[in-house]
Amino acid sequence: MGGRFITLEGIDGAGKSTHLAALAERLAASGQEVVATREPGGTPLAEQLRELLLHTTMDALTETLLVFAARRDHLATVIEPALARGASVLCDRYTDATFAYQGGGRGFPLDVLTQLEAWVQQGRQPDLTLWFDVAPETAAARRATARAPDRFEQQEAAFFERVRAGYVERAEQAPTRIVRIDAGLAPAEVWRQIDAALAARGW
Ligand code: TYD
Repeated sequence: MGGRFITLEGIDGAGKSTHLAALAERLAASGQEVVATREPGGTPLAEQLRELLLHTTMDALTETLLVFAARRDHLATVIEPALARGASVLCDRYTDATFAYQGGGRGFPLDVLTQLEAWVQQGRQPDLTLWFDVAPETAAARRATARAPDRFEQQEAAFFERVRAGYVERAEQAPTRIVRIDAGLAPAEVWRQIDAALAARGW
């Protein structure tokens, strides 16, 4: 099996991190190399940009440019080389998060995001995106029991409604790539859906 590029998406508190390790194990079971990584981040430079993004006040354009700068470094030095050698890449968030958070959440123009996406990615899209969809209230309740909130997690309920709407729109535009996972269910039920999405592709 050749390398697959799989991304995980959803609003903060959707529970995607819970399933990341199991998903990496499931892919590795077939004997292939699996690179588990995240955005923003995944390289020393991009992890530094992540720190700034999560904890420093900035306007939406600066935020968007930093997200894409981090993505460019991550793609060039980690994702593309991994896929080229036949490894699968499992990435916690990617460009759908930019459309949802900067586009939906911050109201940044989607046409500019589309241009930056084309420029930075040169056509590189995930083979499969698992979108952990959950009601914003459920996600907020889960976040409340987690660690200290970052700059995004501190946002009000309306922000997460807009982020979720951003994901809904993106999923409508890429219905084959993006698979909606009902993340409001119990972990075992969520895993069943993930497993089914991979099995449906013969993975
Ligand atoms: P997240 O991936 O949820 O990590 P953790 O589980 O450690 O909190 O946090 C990353 C944050 O960055 C999240 O709030 C969404 C935000 N983000 C954007 O705003 N735009 C992006 O393009 C990406 C990749 C993330």
